[in-house]
Amino acid sequence: MIAEIKIPPILKIGGGSFAAVAALLQRLESKRSLIVTDPWMIKNQLAERLARQMREAGLSCEIFHETVPDPTSAVVEAGARVFVQGGHDSLVSLGGGSPIDTAKAIGMLAANGGKVRDYRFPRPIPAAGPAHLAIPTTAGTGSEVTRFTVITDSESGEKMLLAGDTLLPTAAVVDYELTLTMPPRLTADTGTDSLTHAIEAFVSRRANPFTDALALAAMKTIWRELPTSFHQPDNAQAREAMMLAATQAGIAFSNASVALVHGMSRPLGALFHIPHGLSNAMLLPAVTAFSVEAARDRYAECARTMGLAKAEDSDEAAADQLIRGLYSRNAELQVPTPREFGIPEERYVALLGTMAAQALASGSPQNNPRVPTAQEIEQIYRQAWE
Ligand SMILES: [Fe+2]
Repeated sequence: MIAEIKIPPILKIGGGSFAAVAALLQRLESKRSLIVTDPWMIKNQLAERLARQMREAGLSCEIFHETVPDPTSAVVEAGARVFVQGGHDSLVSLGGGSPIDTAKAIGMLAANGGKVRDYRFPRPIPAAGPAHLAIPTTAGTGSEVTRFTVITDSESGEKMLLAGDTLLPTAAVVDYELTLTMPPRLTADTGTDSLTHAIEAFVSRRANPFTDALALAAMKTIWRELPTSFHQPDNAQAREAMMLAATQAGIAFSNASVALVHGMSRPLGALFHIPHGLSNAMLLPAVTAFSVEAARDRYAECARTMGLAKAEDSDEAAADQLIRGLYSRNAELQVPTPREFGIPEERYVALLGTMAAQALASGSPQNNPRVPTAQEIEQIYRQAWE
């Protein structure tokens, strides 16, 4: 198997790297950036700190802060109009996965025209967009290093996956100091998203030795450090480790792809507005239990790397420990079941068929070690309910 690896040409990683954004934009010859962010980044004044830094360096910028959680095609299309009408030459995204995903899609429309749904996976995205510098403030979706964006169709309500090398940011600034103020719930959800990226990249049918190394390094760190960041939000050492691991996990899944958890997670987000990392957490133990028989050695290696099993444990025992560990971690991080989240049971049951169809249509389940049927997907959703 020949692996092809794509990562942003420039990654700046480390505490304080946020201060180097303007200099980086100058290197990229970007003079009129559109900052894509959300209302929270306006409120905590990080967007203004960024704009000031750019103005002081002689760069002009405009702030588009209409990004919403589960970004929609309507917001992307509005952002693309602001980008074109403002004569901007580059994008700077600031925030969690939503602003970064929104900026990717804005760049795509600015370069290719049309509507977001015209480029839904597996359709190609022909022209590369403008330079895009991504600044994540969570650890994290990994969106700053991936070739993917997930946009909800404002008309149908479906979460659409878009994929292509042209979506990869030009540069990413990964500064853990921006994550020190994340509240515990967001820390747990975004951290579990990263853990899911690492595990899914490692068991994916498209895994390769390059992504394996990153995925294993990431899952080891995230398993150890996530509870610390959750219980001690200002623990800088844990935050720094989590931020690096989230980016490593992002590179791993961008090049090996995610699998069944993500395929099943998107419909839960689209239909019930469960935050992405939380819906991953709800599904991860049950999907792992379903998948183990097709890749017991790979799941056992996850368990050993995460310290859940010993080197001498059999693959069977180690994989069992992984499933048990994932359930108990969810309890520690106070992850609700879909029922506890407040979803009406009749609605959940009535939508099982739709959810399974959307999950399969996303393409991600086909990368899973055990490829499920629609009925098996419904069964997993039922298990996750309890
Ligand atoms: Fe994810």
